[in-house]
Amino acid sequence: MTTPLLSVRDLRVSFAAPQSKKWPWSPAKRVNAVNGVSFDLPAGKTLGVVGESGCGKSTLVRAIAGLYPPTSGDVTFDGKPVDYTNRRETNALRSRMQMIFQDPIASLNPRMNIREIVTEPLRVFRPDMTAQAQKEAVRAMLDRVGIAERNFNRYPHEFSGGQCQRIGIARALVTEPDILLCDEPVSALDVSIQAQVINILKELQKDMGLTLVFVAHDLGVVRHISDEILVMYMGGVMEHAPAADLVAAPQHPYTKALFSAVPVPDPKVTTTPEVLDGDLPSPLDLPEGCLFQSRCPRRMSRCATTRPALRHVGQSKVACLLYEPEPAAI
Ligand SMILES: Nc1ncnc2c1ncn2[C@@H]1O[C@H](COP(=O)(O)OP(=O)(O)OP(=O)(O)O)[C@@H](O)[C@H]1O
Ligand code: SF4
Ligand SMILES: [Mg+2]
Repeated sequence: MTTPLLSVRDLRVSFAAPQSKKWPWSPAKRVNAVNGVSFDLPAGKTLGVVGESGCGKSTLVRAIAGLYPPTSGDVTFDGKPVDYTNRRETNALRSRMQMIFQDPIASLNPRMNIREIVTEPLRVFRPDMTAQAQKEAVRAMLDRVGIAERNFNRYPHEFSGGQCQRIGIARALVTEPDILLCDEPVSALDVSIQAQVINILKELQKDMGLTLVFVAHDLGVVRHISDEILVMYMGGVMEHAPAADLVAAPQHPYTKALFSAVPVPDPKVTTTPEVLDGDLPSPLDLPEGCLFQSRCPRRMSRCATTRPALRHVGQSKVACLLYEPEPAAI
């Protein structure tokens, strides 16, 4: 078996919660944003990450990129454990692991023109390159994402959202990283522009041998680009499966509910979205058992006390007690 490019083991990230104004003497609490995520990602593949708003998708990718310190857990990149407390190591990692964000215009410096924006990472990470070589690399990268040279002296506000995201991709890829972490890169764009940006990413992935982590709300988008999909809920992984298997036969009750809400492009197939009743638990105070128990239509009594582990079910991995035999009574 080949060594994965990226391995994440039991990663946890929590933030200090603001102190209650009403009960200022109450003990400080923490927002548990990522609660024990593990996965392996082989080089050249795409991992889609889906889940409702607030389930920890952005926190997960930001922690992997070294933008948020993990509270515990391990990340191994290219066979080497990453020490996020070591600044030099984290800086070196950033040249090989780049990110693109949801808001393409806000993520570009408004005071720099496009040439400066795309040259900046080369100045930081590739000081060995001559100014001429940097200029050539920037021109080639911008050309690759469809930005003509006559526009290089223009500023971000002069471009559309789709063009800004293409410039963001050029900036992220100009240093030729191994992995691109994409945090909802197309969510803010019109549907027709979404397809353009996804196609550019796919082409660049093929040409550069890139590995992608692609976060999205929209299962319809993520299933087209991903080899495997990770379904998150309240910071935990509910299901991790090859994209085709997840689409054809979702296993976890939460994944089934998510998929029942995705329209099928076939008039003969009519699906009724499964409505999840029940409240979301608070990330300040997670339940002892299954994270999904308060909304699960299949919950059982033991779901309140036992946190299911991620287990193989066919080609998929599922965290649900329906797939775990009940322990024999003594
Ligand atoms: N810097 C922060 N400080 C405190 N809490 C945070 C911080 N960032 C995120 N959180 C909390 O962590 C949890 C996960 O947030 P995160 O932004 O990772 O979710 P998400 O899945 O990316 O959501 P969305 O789909 O809306 O982007 C949420 O409860 C959020 O309020
Ligand atoms: S463990 Fe129980 S509550 Fe959780 S998803 Fe499975 S059946 Fe539902
Ligand atoms: Mg997010």
